[in-house]
Amino acid sequence: MIYDFFEKGRKFLGVEYPIICGGMTWISDYKLVKAVSDAGGFPVFAGGNMPPDLFEQEVDQLINGLDKPFAVNLITIAPNYRNHFEIMLTKDVPFVVFAGNFPKKRDVVAMKEAGKKTMSFASTESIADKQINWGIDALILEGSEAGGHIGSVSLTVLLQQVLFNFRDFPIFVAGGIATGQMMAHLLLMGAYGVQMGTIFAMSQECSAHENFKKAFKKARARQAVATPQYDSKLPVVAVRSILNKGMAQFGRLQLELLKKLDAGSITREKAQYEIESYWAGTLRQAVQDGDVQNGSLMAGQSVGLVNEVKPIKEIMKNLIEDAEEELEMLRKEFSKFCK
Ligand SMILES: Cc1cc2nc3c(=O)[nH]c(=O)nc-3n(C[C@H](O)[C@H](O)[C@H](O)COP(=O)(O)O)c2cc1C
Repeated sequence: MIYDFFEKGRKFLGVEYPIICGGMTWISDYKLVKAVSDAGGFPVFAGGNMPPDLFEQEVDQLINGLDKPFAVNLITIAPNYRNHFEIMLTKDVPFVVFAGNFPKKRDVVAMKEAGKKTMSFASTESIADKQINWGIDALILEGSEAGGHIGSVSLTVLLQQVLFNFRDFPIFVAGGIATGQMMAHLLLMGAYGVQMGTIFAMSQECSAHENFKKAFKKARARQAVATPQYDSKLPVVAVRSILNKGMAQFGRLQLELLKKLDAGSITREKAQYEIESYWAGTLRQAVQDGDVQNGSLMAGQSVGLVNEVKPIKEIMKNLIEDAEEELEMLRKEFSKFCK
């Protein structure tokens, strides 16, 4: 029965299960991508702001090592975005997922002309609408419950604003999902599939430092909080991370940059660059060095649902089996009323 619900997403992505392991900078490397692919899911490689030559090597390794479709994440606000973009135009990669800000129309068109399917995040109704009109092939509708850079609208509202109004468009949903039960209900609502991050960061194949995984294991859902923006003079894309010293340091950095902006000793572009560099640097500090006090512990509220490190195969198997059970339970419930 599950395959009937999976059909649209399976066809679009070309994998067994339309379960996307979202690209995660410093986390979604070859090893994780390969494990997700081998388990029948759809992986996204995250190059973050890698030096272009390293990015190209990694992409080549994926092309040679994977036999099923996958995507490469392109972060539009990364300083190396343009280089990564140009490299991708020449590579035989089936999908590109734009992240950061939503992509420019001409970038979507160029990627499609280069033979790739394009996907991008939507965190509001208007962003979804705009990108569909620009010809994006699919959307990842992500609620503010998600880990990493986020919008401010919850998935519950986005489902009603976007998923229910664009019935025939490929929409994958994300943010706070970590169970097969939830996945089953989202498929029933019309989603093509789901994207998850936090649950996959807690896999054995994820190379993140042991301390990083331990912090995830301990954290409750309420401890994964979104950063505030203190002043619209310095627009800050919110980031959801587990509360630690690093979060407080980010607050202080914002205040310092605002003072400098007021004094005219820094430009807005430079201030925003410092904000983005802060996250890239501190995420590496936590993921690679294991400094979970000062580093960034980006995680979704779903961190409260994942308490064990498991192999990817087991994560996928549990998701599928739980979704199947949920659908069977619903079928029985409905059959009582549909005689
Ligand atoms: C540690 C971490 C890093 C992330 N980095 C990226 C990234 O580089 N690019 C991207 O598109 N999304 C990134 N995300 C978002 C995920 O791809 C995914 O959409 C999100 O985790 C879904 O919410 P969930 O964590 O509740 O499952 C990141 C998420 C986490 C937890």
